[in-house]
Amino acid sequence: MSMHDTGLFVTDLSVSYGRKKVISSLSLGPIAPGEVVALLGPNAAGKSTVLRGIAGLGRSTGRVFLGGNDLTRLSLPERAKRIAYMPQSQPPAIGLPVIEAVMSARSASVGRKTAMEEAFDALERLGIGHLAMQPLSELSGGQRQMIALTQAIVRQPAVLLLDEPTSALDLRHQIHVMDYSVAMARERGTIVVAVLHDIGLALRYADRIAILQNGHLQAFGNPEDIVTQQMLAEVYGIAGRIERCSQGRIQMIVDGPFHATH
Ligand SMILES: Nc1ncnc2c1ncn2[C@@H]1O[C@H](COP(=O)(O)OP(=O)(O)OP(=O)(O)O)[C@@H](O)[C@H]1O
Ligand SMILES: [Mg+2]
Repeated sequence: MSMHDTGLFVTDLSVSYGRKKVISSLSLGPIAPGEVVALLGPNAAGKSTVLRGIAGLGRSTGRVFLGGNDLTRLSLPERAKRIAYMPQSQPPAIGLPVIEAVMSARSASVGRKTAMEEAFDALERLGIGHLAMQPLSELSGGQRQMIALTQAIVRQPAVLLLDEPTSALDLRHQIHVMDYSVAMARERGTIVVAVLHDIGLALRYADRIAILQNGHLQAFGNPEDIVTQQMLAEVYGIAGRIERCSQGRIQMIVDGPFHATH
C-alpha cells in the first residue's frame, strides 16, 4: 500500500479571495498517520488559508486525499467528521459552562454520558480540569484558546488542523498542548498539522516542517534540514544561527535583522 492510500495528501490546492489568488496549485504530503507537521511562514504567507482549504471552508479548488479517499467529494459535515479545524481566533464567548461547550463539539452519536467522560478526560489531560464548570465568557484569552483546542480534540478526528494553537499560552501550557498533540498522533494515529510562529516549538515537536512563503510551499522536510541559517535569512529576513545545546537538541539563536552583504 502506498503512502497515498493511508495518509493526508493535498494536490493542486488553489484559493482565491475575490479576484486575489492567495494559494496557487499547492501540493503537500503525503503526511502519514501519526505524524505531526508544523506549518511555518511569515505573516500573510497564506498559512490560515491553506488550513481552511484543507478543511473545506471557503472556496477552493484542488484535491484533498485521506486514506486514498478524495475528501473534496464529500459533503462538508462528512468532511468535518474526519478533519477538525481550530481557527486562529475564537468566536465571541457565550455563557455556557466549559464542560457543555466541549461536549457540544463531540458528535451526538456517542451519547451524553460518554461525551461528558471524554470531555473531562481531555480537560484533565490538558491540565485544565478545574475549568470545567466555569462559564466560557469568564475565561482568560489563553484559557479560551485551550478550550478551543479541547473542542477540536474530543471530536477524535483523523486530521487535526491547528491554527496557532499556542499563540496565547504561557510556556507551561504551550508544552502541555504540544505534548498532547504529539501523544494524540502517536496513540490514535491522528495527523496533526499545526501553524506555529515559534520556530523553537516546531523544532522540538514537529516530525516535519513545511515552510509557506507568498502562498507557495517553499520547503517541506525534516526539521534540521528545513530550519537553516539560509532559510531564516530568506524567509524571515533575520540573521540567526542553528546550534546544538549541551543536551544535543537543535536550538535557534536570533542575532538580529538580516542585512545582505554584496
Ligand atoms: N477574508 C479575506 N479576504 C481577503 N483577503 C484575505 C482574507 N483572508 C486572508 N486574506 C489575504 O490572504 C493572504 C493570506 O492570509 P492568511 O490569513 O492565510 O495568512 P497567514 O499566513 O495565516 O498569516 P498570519 O501569520 O498573519 O496569520 C493575506 O495577504 C491576506 O491579506
Ligand atoms: Mg494565520
